[in-house]
Amino acid sequence: MGKQEELLLEVRNLTIRFGGVVALNSISLEIYEGEILGLIGPNGAGKTTLFNCLSRLYRQSEGDICVKGESITPLGPEDMAARGIGRTFQNIALFETMSVFDNVQTGAQFGMNSGIAADIFGGSKIRQERAQERDRIMHLLELLDLADIADHTITDQNFAVRKRIEFARALAANPSLLMLDEPAGGLNREEVHHLEDLIRQVRDEFNVAVLLVEHHLNLVMKVSDRVVAMDFGQKIADGLPHEVRSHPQVLQAYLGEEAA
Ligand SMILES: Nc1ncnc2c1ncn2[C@@H]1O[C@H](COP(=O)(O)OP(=O)(O)O)[C@@H](O)[C@H]1O
Ligand SMILES: [Mg+2]
Repeated sequence: MGKQEELLLEVRNLTIRFGGVVALNSISLEIYEGEILGLIGPNGAGKTTLFNCLSRLYRQSEGDICVKGESITPLGPEDMAARGIGRTFQNIALFETMSVFDNVQTGAQFGMNSGIAADIFGGSKIRQERAQERDRIMHLLELLDLADIADHTITDQNFAVRKRIEFARALAANPSLLMLDEPAGGLNREEVHHLEDLIRQVRDEFNVAVLLVEHHLNLVMKVSDRVVAMDFGQKIADGLPHEVRSHPQVLQAYLGEEAA
């Protein structure tokens, strides 16, 4: 369980079909405020499909998704930031020629007084807000070890650094839930250790819930407060990391799959 027991997101009997494939088969789960929920399952289990439903990129055939008791089923991906749902993308889309700072700030723009009009016509209150916003972004950069390269462009950054920039950008929107799809993908062992620390640090500092979709079992088991396991679009286990890891159906599902 998370630090708080307040229900944040609820998935109820979600089903989605692609032609003849039932990618999600009446799956239900909950995410509580401030908890790190690991979502595991062998390839093709439906993890990314669920992730995309939660981001509203995919529309389910049946079932409902509620955030703080309100259905987000009618909403689109562009509405998610305002509902406090943040995510990172597997194919990192950063603005190459912009600075690290500016890239992270693009995550914060929603709902903020910004732009040229605010610069020209803005009073001291807006200027003060912007200074606070700047401090907040700088603090995020420090937390993610990016402060030293705040004014560098993206072009020169390696893959692991880009992932951290994307992480910072998602956090800049102040989400109540941050969704990460395979954040350890392409990282070396040392970078994965760093990521583990970061995820916990970020949760502790911002009390943000984290949905961690990950093939990397060790990472999930170490970082998560609770783990949900899926196979063939269904939930097969839901509990503490050590309970899920030794669950017979989970062992069965991972049999023959060499876990990373
Ligand atoms: N856009 C799509 N069109 C058709 N089939 C899809 C699509 N997305 C996912 N699927 C199918 O849904 C199933 C679950 O895939 P996915 O959610 O990517 O699994 P995971 O992320 O757990 O590896 C697979 O059988 C996959 O081929
Ligand atoms: Mg996937």
